[in-house]
Amino acid sequence: MMLLAAETNLRRPSLNADAYGRYYTPSQVSQTLIDAITGMRPKLILELGCGQGALACAAQGKWARANYITVDTDLAAMSALKESATYASHTHHIHDALDDALADRIGVPLASVDVGLCNPPYVRPRWRSSFGHILEDAGLSGTLQSVHDAGADLLFIAQNLRLLKQRGKLGLILPDGLITGEKYRGVRHALLREHLVELVVQLPRRVFKGTEAQTHLLVLSKLSGETQEVALSQMSDNGELSATIVVPADLAKHRLDYGFHAMGSSTSRPRSKCAHKITIGNVVQELIRGTTSSSQIRSCPLPVFHLGDFPFPSEFTDGPQVPSKFIQPHSKTTIQQRSYKFARAGDILIARIGRNLQHKVCLLPRGVCVISDCIYAVRAAPEYRQILLAYLVSEDGKIALEAASHGVGAKYLSRADVLSIVLPD
Ligand SMILES: C[S@@+](CC[C@H](N)C(=O)[O-])C[C@H]1O[C@@H](n2cnc3c(N)ncnc32)[C@H](O)[C@@H]1O
Repeated sequence: MMLLAAETNLRRPSLNADAYGRYYTPSQVSQTLIDAITGMRPKLILELGCGQGALACAAQGKWARANYITVDTDLAAMSALKESATYASHTHHIHDALDDALADRIGVPLASVDVGLCNPPYVRPRWRSSFGHILEDAGLSGTLQSVHDAGADLLFIAQNLRLLKQRGKLGLILPDGLITGEKYRGVRHALLREHLVELVVQLPRRVFKGTEAQTHLLVLSKLSGETQEVALSQMSDNGELSATIVVPADLAKHRLDYGFHAMGSSTSRPRSKCAHKITIGNVVQELIRGTTSSSQIRSCPLPVFHLGDFPFPSEFTDGPQVPSKFIQPHSKTTIQQRSYKFARAGDILIARIGRNLQHKVCLLPRGVCVISDCIYAVRAAPEYRQILLAYLVSEDGKIALEAASHGVGAKYLSRADVLSIVLPD
């Protein structure tokens, strides 16, 4: 451990990302996170992975008398802090924040921090057995299929939870995976069960310069009772926060993003209020995913409908349809060809992945058609086909598809995402 720049001041840097692609938090986001942490008069504030101290700097505006401890492995982070050395209550450590013995190394006892602030690195560090102990200690070890799947984001959360006192508040900036990914459902469940998750704010996609990564703010109060309901909000491109919506915890563990719940997904409202809502899952007989990969398309004996084959909606008066060259008469498909996945007449084809997947929807009007592994065929009950198609190609439908999707840049839709989209009344 090395102690540096004791008694320094924190001043906000102007850059968002450095030459190594590390994304530093812009002031608007830091400020929103600090504003969201309420009901505290903290004495000790910690920022693990502080970079240039964006979060601690914003906190200083609100809690000028607190003691600040910042930790980062990066020497450049240190020099940026040193430049602004005048304040009496800040200690910076150049140290690995994922050290199991961090508390001793930085002289901050476990369960002593009032406010933890963290925009963790979104990488997967080489696994160390001590990570298992950090997760275990924070009550997060059983939340993933394998603890080895834990990225730095989850490990930083765990380390913060260890250092935070009971009822201490943790303000985080988290990647979309932890907030919406199926893989992290167990993590969300554990956080909601053990702590009071107060607020989650979905940030605009381009808020961190140079990346379209979807990120979210999350504020929780450690061991303050099980979360019953979570307030969700969204920050617009100009930094304004939407009105909050409130989601019960048993639905929030499914996903914690405002975009999804605000669209009125089946899982987004108290059950009593959404009992009458009809979802795609309620009206489909099957949701089929193709199996032919892009590299196998050429060797397939039949034309394969893939992402680039969706027609422009304006080409059709009755809604977009699969172009004729992909359509086979049903009788012509041989046994061998049946090892491919076929969409059938009446199926609605949607893109499963892609940057603009919400614009890729069309109907197979007759016959059958081989679909690639990037395509879903939604086989709805006949009485719902036209309603479903009309909705999915409408502006509202596009918004619903986009809101249900995950991922950075190229987005994707899981089966559960598609099935939980709510149809209009
Ligand atoms: C996404 S940046 C966030 C910086 C700052 N908190 C902010 O919001 O602008 C993550 C920071 O974590 C630091 N970091 C990465 N791994 C670390 C580790 N094991 N221990 C301490 N800091 C680490 C990086 O050097 C980087 O400064």
